[in-house]
Formats: sequence, structure tokens, C-alpha cells
Amino acid sequence: MVKFLVEGQRTLCGRVSINGAKNSALKLMVAALLGQGSFRLENVPSITDVETMAGVLRALGVRLHFASGCLQLEVSSVAGQTPEALVKSMRASVQVMGPLLARLGRVEVARPGGCNIGSRPLDIHLAGFEQMGATIEVKDDRFVARAPRLHGADITFRYPSVGATENIMMAATMAKGETIIRNAAREPEIVDIQGFLNGMGAKIQGAGTSVITIQGVGELGATDFSVVPDRIEAGTYLLAFLTTGGSGTVENVVPEHMAPLLGLLASMGAGVEVGEGEVSVVSPRRLKPFEASTGPYPEFPTDLQPQMVALATQAQGQSKLKEAVFDRRFGYTHELGKLGARITPNTSAVTIEGITSLYGTDLVAGDLRGGAAIVLAALAAEGQSTIFGVEHIDRGYEAMETQLTSLGAKIVRIAE
Ligand code: EPU
Repeated sequence: MVKFLVEGQRTLCGRVSINGAKNSALKLMVAALLGQGSFRLENVPSITDVETMAGVLRALGVRLHFASGCLQLEVSSVAGQTPEALVKSMRASVQVMGPLLARLGRVEVARPGGCNIGSRPLDIHLAGFEQMGATIEVKDDRFVARAPRLHGADITFRYPSVGATENIMMAATMAKGETIIRNAAREPEIVDIQGFLNGMGAKIQGAGTSVITIQGVGELGATDFSVVPDRIEAGTYLLAFLTTGGSGTVENVVPEHMAPLLGLLASMGAGVEVGEGEVSVVSPRRLKPFEASTGPYPEFPTDLQPQMVALATQAQGQSKLKEAVFDRRFGYTHELGKLGARITPNTSAVTIEGITSLYGTDLVAGDLRGGAAIVLAALAAEGQSTIFGVEHIDRGYEAMETQLTSLGAKIVRIAE
């Protein structure tokens, strides 16, 4: 069991360098299953989700070596089973379906259940595979997909799902003919996977827009690639500065990818300055409240919703934040309530009354981003907090306590 001890009410200041995006790195690792040869991935975060995905790839015959943010992969033949325990512990492993179906003509994965942030069905992924000629069977809580040779298809998503866009893009790289994905997700991570796959020899265009076109090719090779900076990690640290009344800079970021967050922070009265590859924020004397909604990129990211709620506890007045991506992403608000936050969640939105004085206590992180919000609120609270469930935070933040300590926080990790 790992926990954080946080001594709150210290103003955070300074500069922090941002890692590559978890939600890109994981998919690029999986996309390598389509290729052949030696890959070199730079700017890979050292987080447990990357370790878990490495375990999935190893079980499929890939050789991996990771050091100082550089992940080398050797892919020759791909065979074997996706390990059920690993797949169940990380939803991103459903992304092996596209590449394995394309490469092996058959894939079997454990059906992922709901998780702490929502029910998260896979209907859009599966309908896409079916349109490309696959048959899908549900057997003893496992999905078995088969397609001797996938063919191109004109697919319109009912919702711009990030995971389905990536899965269909990967499956289509080696399908016979042309695939068009309409109403595709437009996240920067989708642009990353297009660049990576094209580096391997795929023919994809349109990523970053809602129509993506893929021409199937016979085979794919290997490539070197640098993972896009993590806009969510960057946003989390900007919100940490402001939640503690501080100021600071995130480096190694793509500021355009953070536009909806930066606009919202400016509307709250924060000083926001955009430089080349970096963004700085300065706390105002008083933060104004806000009303916002999450949504698919380029709207406000759901992965910053909890951290934004932590900030709202320190704004003067009533803020409202609607969650329009996931159906159960307010579990953490109960924990913030234990610190003294006045938050009322209903099914799809939260109302936050600020300013509230927060007081340290025992807290439990139940999911990754909710855990980050709990850390932010504990940093703003008077006295000491103990945060349990740090394993969730470690899934997506590299050494969060080290980064925060370098900014002036008092936070220590205790592993029992
Ligand atoms: N959805 C369906 N059917 C599908 C697929 C999705 O109904 O077949 C629904 C989901 O249930 C959800 C919504 O569509 O309500 C959005 O899901 P999406 O497929 O876009 O998300 P994802 O691919 O499962 C990725 C990130 C999430 C991030 C979302 C949205 C990874 C590994 N995960 O999930 O990241 O919140 O996109 O941007 O890339 C996180 O990092 O904390 C995290 C949860």
C-alpha cells in the first residue's frame, strides 16, 4: 500500500518539465504490434500504465527495454494470448484488438467491465470492426473477434470515441482497400498515432479533423518517434499552482493543445502567459468562479474535470462544471467534502461553493484524475492529510511527489 503525507497551505512556485502523454504512449506501444523491426519511442513517461502495457506486449512476444524516457521495442513475430489479469487492470489494453485482428486475423480479450469513472461500453469499436468484415462473439466474458482479411469500410461513429478512432485506424492500416472514419475523435493523441503509423509505412490522412482516411497497405515496418507532451499532466500542475495561490511555468508543452483550459483560467482572473513550448500562470488576488462543460477535443478535457473542481473550491462564489463525457466521474467529490469543500454533485454536473477553507484529513484516491484532484485540495488545506490509493495516481503521473516537492510542496511517499 502506498500513501502520500501532505502538509498543506504552502504556495507552489517554480518550473516543472512535462512528460510525454500517457494516452499517446500506450497506443503507440500497441500500434507497434502491427510492424516489424526495431522501434525507438522517446518522451515516454515512467508510469505504471506503461509498465502494464509492456507486460501485455511481452506476453505477445515483443522485446522491450525502457530507460530514461526512451522505450525500445523489438517486434518480429507476434503470437500468444493477451494476459487476462493485465487486460482487466487497464482498459487501454482493449486497443490490442485492432492491431491483432489486422495482423493475426483473430483476437480474444477479456471483456473489460465498467470502471470507477463510468460504464464505458465498446460498441463503437466493435461495430467498426464488424463493418470491416469481422465477426464478434462474446464467450465466457471474453470478446472473440475474427476476420481472415479485414476490408476497408465507410464508418460513421455515433460519438467521437478516442479509443475507437485509434482501434479502427490501426485495424485499417492493413485492411484491403480504403477506410473512412467519420465523426472521428480529434485529440492530439490521434495525430500522434497517425504520425507513428505513417512512419511505419501506413497511409493515413486527416487526423486532427473529424474525417480520417486510411489506405490499406501490405505490411508495416518500424519507426522512431517522440511522444506528444501530456496536456493533462501539464494542466494538473498549472491547476496546482493556482489552487495554492502560487505561480509557475510548465515546460515542454504544446500550448495550443491546452487552449480550453487556458481560456477558462484567464476568465477566472488568473494571469496566463504562453511562450514557446511553455505556459505560465499567476494567481490573481481573487479567483472568479466559472461555468463550463467537458467535451471531446477541442472542448474542455474530462481528464482535468476533477482538478478544476479542486480549484473551484478556492474561487470566490459558485462554480458549475458539467461532465459530458463519462457517466460516473464525480466519486472523488466525496473525498473533497471530507476536507470541507462544499460540492453538490448530481448525475451530470457539480456545483461548487467557494471560497472554502479546507482542513487536512485522511483521504482515499479511487481513480487517477480524482486522485490528482485530492492531492491538489490537500495541498491547499490547512494541516496534514494522508492520501491512500496512490497506486491510482502512479498509473498516470510520473513521480508526482518529486515534481510537487521541487515546487515547494511538503509531500512524502510512504510505501508499506
Ligand atoms: N463510449 C461508448 N462506446 C464506445 C466507446 C466509448 O459509449 O464504444 C463512450 C464512453 O463510455 C465514454 C465516452 O464514449 O463515456 C468517451 O470514451 P472514449 O472512447 O472517447 O474514451 P477512451 O478511449 O475510453 C480515452 C482516455 C481517457 C480519456 C478519454 C476521453 C486512454 C487510455 N484513455 O479513453 O483517459 O478520458 O479518452 O478523452 O486514452 C485518463 O487518462 O484518466 C482517462 C480516463
